Amino acid sequence: MDEALSYQLLHLEELKRRCDLNGKSVLEIGGCLPRDVALGSTGARRWIGIDLPDYWKESGDENPSRFYQGTILDIDQAEQANDLDYALLLGDVLALPERIEPFDAVFSSCAFEHIQDLDKRLSVIRKVLRPGSLLLAVAMPIWSSPHGSHMLPITDENGRIWHPESFALPDWHQLLLTPDEMAVHMTNRHIPDSIVRKAVHWVHESLYLNRLCAGDYVALAARSGFSEHRVLYSDRVDWADPQTMHVLETLYPGKGPFDRAGVMLTLRA
Ligand SMILES: C[S@@+](CC[C@H](N)C(=O)[O-])C[C@H]1O[C@@H](n2cnc3c(N)ncnc32)[C@H](O)[C@@H]1O
Repeated sequence: MDEALSYQLLHLEELKRRCDLNGKSVLEIGGCLPRDVALGSTGARRWIGIDLPDYWKESGDENPSRFYQGTILDIDQAEQANDLDYALLLGDVLALPERIEPFDAVFSSCAFEHIQDLDKRLSVIRKVLRPGSLLLAVAMPIWSSPHGSHMLPITDENGRIWHPESFALPDWHQLLLTPDEMAVHMTNRHIPDSIVRKAVHWVHESLYLNRLCAGDYVALAARSGFSEHRVLYSDRVDWADPQTMHVLETLYPGKGPFDRAGVMLTLRA
């Protein structure tokens, strides 16, 4: 099974454990599960995904809605999805119209750590949820985690692919190294300047990441305006050494824990 789909199924199980989706209308943020999973395995009557094509351009990443086979609508046509049981909206969550038929649940798997200005977007999501409905979002790996920079292979102008392993960046480098220190580290490993510049941009400036730490998600959930809010941390990473944890806690007070790959937000409208 595709690796992306296998973790998404685990996250979907978390939603199903907390919410009977039978006959319900679900909004998926940052992707759209295959129809047989989205509708077939849940009994949901309607499953509408939303995904942002501009983001794929920025990341050069594989299109995460690649499993999708169904109606695709531009976000400007979102109201047409009121008559459909399965559709993918292309656009920003921010542009979701309030006139869309409200949802009974929101699901999101490994997308929240990429969504910019999440406060604003959560408030839009809250408006398209029926009162009392649940949002479950798993964000992973988050910025405060060892691999929070999501470093992907970079292709140079000659088509050569530079794999992140050759950069030998330490775990938590996004928090431990300044952009200049990261550039020096890579240059010392004979990585060409053009790749160094792309890597530093990716980690410290690109719109691919929202750079929210575990502690930021807790604060965000608390001020989100949802009637109930809960943030669960994923299991501890077992290679987190106490000395590095101490350095991170000193540098970024209130932003930890730093030894968790991700968080699961459950918010009730
Ligand atoms: C790493 S992908 C995850 C996709 C899929 N859920 C998976 O697990 O493979 C993150 C997704 O979030 C989407 N995304 C980021 N910001 C968004 C926004 N403001 N509105 C809608 N989708 C957004 C991107 O388009 C991207 O497809």
